[in-house]
Amino acid sequence: MAQYDVIVIGSGPGGYVAAIRCAQLGLKTACVEGRETLGGTCLNVGCIPSKALLHASHQLHEAEHNFAKMGLKGKTPSVDWKQMLSYKEDAIGQNTKGIEFLFKKNKIDWLKGWGSIPAAGKVKVGNETYETKNIIIASGSEPASVPGADVTIDEKIVVTSTGALELGKIPKKLVVIGAGVIGLELGSVYARLGSEVQVIEFMDSITPGMDSEVQKTFKRLLSKQGLNFKLGAAVNKVETTKSKAKVSYTLRKDDSAHTVDADVVLVSTGRKPFTDGLGLEELGVEMSPRGQIKADDQWRTNVTGIYAIGDCIDGPMLAHKAEDEGMAAAEVIAGKHGHVNYGVIPGVIYTHPEVANVGVTEEQLREQGIAYKAGKFSFMGNGRAKANFAGDGFVKILADKETDRILGAHIIGPMAGDLIHEICVAMEFGASAEDLALTCHAHPTYSEAVREAALACGDGPIHM
Ligand code: NAI
Repeated sequence: MAQYDVIVIGSGPGGYVAAIRCAQLGLKTACVEGRETLGGTCLNVGCIPSKALLHASHQLHEAEHNFAKMGLKGKTPSVDWKQMLSYKEDAIGQNTKGIEFLFKKNKIDWLKGWGSIPAAGKVKVGNETYETKNIIIASGSEPASVPGADVTIDEKIVVTSTGALELGKIPKKLVVIGAGVIGLELGSVYARLGSEVQVIEFMDSITPGMDSEVQKTFKRLLSKQGLNFKLGAAVNKVETTKSKAKVSYTLRKDDSAHTVDADVVLVSTGRKPFTDGLGLEELGVEMSPRGQIKADDQWRTNVTGIYAIGDCIDGPMLAHKAEDEGMAAAEVIAGKHGHVNYGVIPGVIYTHPEVANVGVTEEQLREQGIAYKAGKFSFMGNGRAKANFAGDGFVKILADKETDRILGAHIIGPMAGDLIHEICVAMEFGASAEDLALTCHAHPTYSEAVREAALACGDGPIHM
């Protein structure tokens, strides 16, 4: 029986990062994973495959809409769906094998199988029980169904993100339930590939909780790309035949009942923590009413020696939040200081244009009674964006009215998911909008729009 310092359960971005950091800090580490490949939901059936399909379908969109304008004439490419799926599989393979390589390099044992915790200090995988001083649970999350609705997921006609990444063919009509991150990313993919896409959302706006100006611009741009939205609509039933589905929903404003037919229905109404089979109840690990493992600010559960990170605890279900917690929990176990700044965790939607945010929204600032200024700059005023047909969208920086300290930022536009990090770093350093505004930005770059938004918090932008 091997004696480990740490056994990490789950090899998603939270788990594999935690394992690597533990090993780097000199701890004898193993990671339990029951899938055929490492990387968890993110690498196998989430972030990476969806980004591959977003990339491929965006190239098609460019060919169809912008190539001729740039003098690139001729037949636009046709879609070979099988080949696109195999490109996606390739992207997955390269990434999951990369983690396997990193495990070998860092001398981390991959314990293959599904793990459970028979007692603190023990992890059982198959017939083998391993002893360990510490356990990090990084078991992730799984799709939630539609709350209060009669929906059976078969991953063929009624699918979650998992099934939507490997459909047999491109559906003629796709109905997406939930206008959140998954619904809009995958809805975009299929709209670009020619599906008629209908998004049904319970709330009166898309991406609930996001900056309201971003929401409006985002909805307008996605509608232009062919996504149809039915907002304020609660789905209550999805019926299926052999090859079709019928979605029933009620409009909240007048309680009227409606139905819509579909070849495929994507259920993207959120995810829930996945902790099945770990034996947490028997161990007496405290859980929240929402099924999350309760962890303190050092990722310790109430059972000594058992830590939890990522989607299975509280907080945004984001790969990078899990990674940060993984590194920090490893530091804590190694007797160092582990810290995550939950106020500076960016969120990104990888549609076109991309959407990114960090920190608070104007709505939250108003609620909290904090006096602020908003500096906004449109990509229409950015030379690079104009040249690249990427003038849609804007950067908005929110700063404290008195101190000028940056409190949040909201970007919709080209490369928003990359641009946001300049603001994240600024926020980590407690920078003012003026600090950003006084920083030289190379021309011509999209980043200049960030500087201009910072200038707009002071004496005003130059190009607007
Ligand atoms: P989400 O929480 O982003 O959105 C779910 C949407 O469904 C909400 O707008 C909600 O109002 C709506 N909804 C709920 N019940 C409904 C009903 N009965 N009828 C109509 N609409 C209904 O959830 P999503 O998109 O499934 O994503 C799950 C998690 O995965 C999220 O936490 C997300 O952050 C994460 N994720 C992040 C990605 C990224 O960072 N790019 C990519 C994919 C997932």
